[in-house]
Amino acid sequence: MRHLLGVRGLDRDDLVHLLDLTASFRAVNARPIPKVPALQGRTVATLFFEDSTRTRLSFETAAKRLSADTLSFSVGTSSVKKGESLRDTARTVEAMGVDAIVLRHSASGAPHRLAGWVDAAVVNAGDGWHEHPTQALLDAFTLRERFGTLDGLRVAIVGDIAHSRVARSNVWALHTLGAEVTLVAPRTLLPPDTSAWPVRVTDDLDDVLRSVDVVYLLRMQFERQGAPLVPSLAEYVERFGLTRERAERLGPSTVVMHPGPMNQGVEIAPEVADDPRCLVLDQVANGVSVRMAVLFRLLGAGPLQNAGGGGDV
Ligand code: NCD
Repeated sequence: MRHLLGVRGLDRDDLVHLLDLTASFRAVNARPIPKVPALQGRTVATLFFEDSTRTRLSFETAAKRLSADTLSFSVGTSSVKKGESLRDTARTVEAMGVDAIVLRHSASGAPHRLAGWVDAAVVNAGDGWHEHPTQALLDAFTLRERFGTLDGLRVAIVGDIAHSRVARSNVWALHTLGAEVTLVAPRTLLPPDTSAWPVRVTDDLDDVLRSVDVVYLLRMQFERQGAPLVPSLAEYVERFGLTRERAERLGPSTVVMHPGPMNQGVEIAPEVADDPRCLVLDQVANGVSVRMAVLFRLLGAGPLQNAGGGGDV
């Protein structure tokens, strides 16, 4: 694997291998000193052209725990403000000697273009509405930890699917690993055509909640919407919000997930966000291990056994 541009195109073996590698790094993260020399001497640059809290900190933490050096770029304080293009920015960063570029960009396909311009490994940290592969991997890992397998797991993805790269990556990852995915949203928040997606589609959340193992909630991505797509937020909450009342009707082993950032009181009630069945913080914690696995897979030399200088990782 030279780059990680998307989940679509990865087969079950690729995904399982990355999840197994993630489990090794999770064991590293449980140590008193969660650091290995696996990527010593390598440099990872994070290029974020869009805001981020979790994804950026998670990639930087992952790189540091592998002993890589990190360079960090934010568009707001860069020469992009002076008109520099993505291509020139990336080639400038690469000329400083970086081995991997982690890119977040508002344009779908930006990481694919970048991969054609630089020799460094490119990791997609979210491109427009298109894909967010490490988010899908960390979600799949979190579910595998919780349920043992994704085979036959019933997952409802609820909310603004149309504008969500998280939904697009998750649909493919979860399906490839054997889960049954249902999209729940009003027509206006669905992509115009989902006929090629391996999903069931409905607008009846209450019906779906009776028989799911996982409720995966999405934020309304207002910054990507043009005209208003729901009559009012209050009406949205009434039909599609995971309110406390709805959460009480969930089965005892059903879990709630969210990629963050949450808009509490809209797609998720504050009490539900704080409920132990809500796995949001497990997702964040697993994100570091997943990104360690991805960076190691792309930049690590040789088998895992030799990477840590010890018997295992
Ligand atoms: C998401 C993103 O930026 O794609 N957040 C994340 O990376 N965890 C989802 C969102 O912005 O709603």
